[in-house]
Amino acid sequence: MTLKPIVVIGSINMDLVALTPQIPLAGQTLIGTGFATTPGGKGANQAVAVARLGAPVYIVGMVGEDVFGQALVDSLQEAGVATDSVSRVDGPSGIASIAVATRGENSIIVVPGANGRVTPDYLDRHEALIASAGMVLCQLELPMGTAQHALALCARSGVPVMLDPAPAAPLPDSIWPQITWFTPNETEAALYADGALSAEESARLLLARGVSGVVLKRGAEGSYVAVRGGAAHWVPAFNAQAIDTVGAGDCFNGAFAVALTEGLDPWAAARFASAAAAISVTRRGAQASMPTRTEVDQFLAQRL
Ligand code: RIB
Repeated sequence: MTLKPIVVIGSINMDLVALTPQIPLAGQTLIGTGFATTPGGKGANQAVAVARLGAPVYIVGMVGEDVFGQALVDSLQEAGVATDSVSRVDGPSGIASIAVATRGENSIIVVPGANGRVTPDYLDRHEALIASAGMVLCQLELPMGTAQHALALCARSGVPVMLDPAPAAPLPDSIWPQITWFTPNETEAALYADGALSAEESARLLLARGVSGVVLKRGAEGSYVAVRGGAAHWVPAFNAQAIDTVGAGDCFNGAFAVALTEGLDPWAAARFASAAAAISVTRRGAQASMPTRTEVDQFLAQRL
């Protein structure tokens, strides 16, 4: 069976990662225990997650003409992501300054660089690719107008779209019915669901806004998957000794998209995605931590 490709419209960053005993408070200086420069960016991470799982994937985005630009394209290509729709533009690539603390928790500052140059016009140049997708994955690290245009293009060509609302930012009312899958973490869900705390209540509010399906990513608690007019229930997370959670949510989204496009139901797809994410948090780096299909299959086989 030949599957349509997954197309990611999203950010490509170089992650500048400091390992630290704890996340620094405002005004605090800490002595770190390690440092790495490693490819990341929510869009690129999701694309690499898809590629490692063996599905065809393209990314539409931009990197800079600086030292990071070529390294970021190389990392995508080595993973098997098609980069025909990645342009190099004057100026710096996107970067993320990241602190990773002892139990794997993180804090991130993104400076968009070239990602901020991805315009609606640029997406129009890749409309045929977008229209050919089995699913499009978007996040919110590109300019908001570009993200909105991505959803409009998908709606126009009937392509399902998964929006990961990270980093969370207000969304216009018109966008909700264009979203097939909305995948916030707990903090993000609170912004969009009027501060609702329970997953059940948040999902109900988000579905009422017009999205077709919701996956509330709750880390070690698992994920709550709800479909408009259909079922809603929890999918438990797998136990994992987390050392670095950077990119775990991206890993989940990439794997969830692969499983859905291969025909799994949303709850089975979320279980597959949870397994992939559980493996990713046991490794350092964002793109570097994404598991292969064989690794996920073996992980699941040991937990039947
Ligand atoms: O989701 C993790 C990612 O967020 C990092 O790789 C960083 O680049 C930021 O985009």
